[in-house]
Amino acid sequence: KKQYRIAVIPGDGIGKEVMPEGLRVLEAAAKKHGVSLHFDHFDFSSWDYYEKHGQMMPDDWKEKIGKHDAIYFGAVGWPAKIPDHVSLWGSLIKFRREFDQYVNLRPVRLMPGVPSPLANRKPGDIDFWVVRENTEGEYSSVGGRMFPDTDREFVTQQTVMTRTGVDRILKFAFELAQSRPKKHLTSATKSNGISITMPYWDERVEAMAKKFPGVKWDKYHIDILTANFVLHPDWFDVVVGSNLFGDILSDLGPACTGTIGIAPSGNINPEGDFPSVFEPVHGSAPDIAGQGIANPIGAIWSGAMMLEHLGEKIAGKSIVDAIERTLAERTLRTKDLGGNADTTACGKAVADMVD
Ligand code: NAD
Ligand code: IPM
Ligand code: MN
Repeated sequence: KKQYRIAVIPGDGIGKEVMPEGLRVLEAAAKKHGVSLHFDHFDFSSWDYYEKHGQMMPDDWKEKIGKHDAIYFGAVGWPAKIPDHVSLWGSLIKFRREFDQYVNLRPVRLMPGVPSPLANRKPGDIDFWVVRENTEGEYSSVGGRMFPDTDREFVTQQTVMTRTGVDRILKFAFELAQSRPKKHLTSATKSNGISITMPYWDERVEAMAKKFPGVKWDKYHIDILTANFVLHPDWFDVVVGSNLFGDILSDLGPACTGTIGIAPSGNINPEGDFPSVFEPVHGSAPDIAGQGIANPIGAIWSGAMMLEHLGEKIAGKSIVDAIERTLAERTLRTKDLGGNADTTACGKAVADMVD
């Protein structure tokens, strides 16, 4: 029987608090379903590591984690000590780009019993996927700063869209839409104002749509799209966006389901040439770090996505079911969801519910 080798990287802040709960639940599901998981733990991609070594990761980081079946990640960023762009471009963004994880897959689902901040919304009304382009777009390293500290100071950062890069994320999103009952895709654009790259994006969406005649599709400019996430979340099934638009939508969507603390994500290399990274959508949350109150569900659900990605669908689903049963009980929820359970109590509750 195959043993899966997982690289575990907790990172910073609440990353260190939610990961033990994620591992607890993964172990429970693995035991119940006869899945064999082997975990290798790494301390890099964190401020602690940077403080000791002057860089976010060892030079041979790719050799250390590049052969694993998947990478399970917490969160990175400690802005009081190190500028975010330095820590992020030195770790997480490197994983995404160097491991060619061009799909950032982020489900948005209102869970039974969990109050939505939107009035009169029930489970089923909010149930869609954000498919975010994850290797190019607005997050590019093309640009620079000239004449620093003078009146002529000049900064620029170019959006980069390649045909391969745009087409492959659109193909993934259309395939996902085609596999869902509603078969509906929405594209996030801004081709009225961003007059070169966004019209190109729209053009490629139209071309890809022709290959998926069974999928109904539409597009909205990002400004009204964010409004419609709040006003009409039931309109959406699969929402595809560029790197920046997908980032924004994948915090807004989960906020509409009660908290960003439950939102999971997969940074996926669909071809399997490199390992994929599974991590909660949220960050290191310095404002609550060290208090033991972080919601561990985003990390736990990311573990479920990892199992599904590895082909262990039943074990993965057992975790999602356990999350639903846990969230249905107010006393098992963390503070961000109006409960009083701490991180560990919530994680233990999910682990106990796994069957
Ligand atoms: P954040 O997601 O860390 O926190 C935003 C707000 O949500 C905070 O008030 C926080 O307390 C709350 N929150 C987040 N996760 C929660 C959880 N599990 N349970 C309860 N409450 C939760 O975003 P931020 O404050 O913009 O960023 C903080 C740091 O994290 C920065 O360094 C940022 O760059 C980094 N960051 C990293 C990732 C990542 O590793 N993928 C993602 C986002 C932000
Ligand atoms: C996310 C985060 C990252 C992103 C940051 C920390 C660079 O917000 O994973 O959503 O923008 O991709
Ligand atoms: Mn984000």
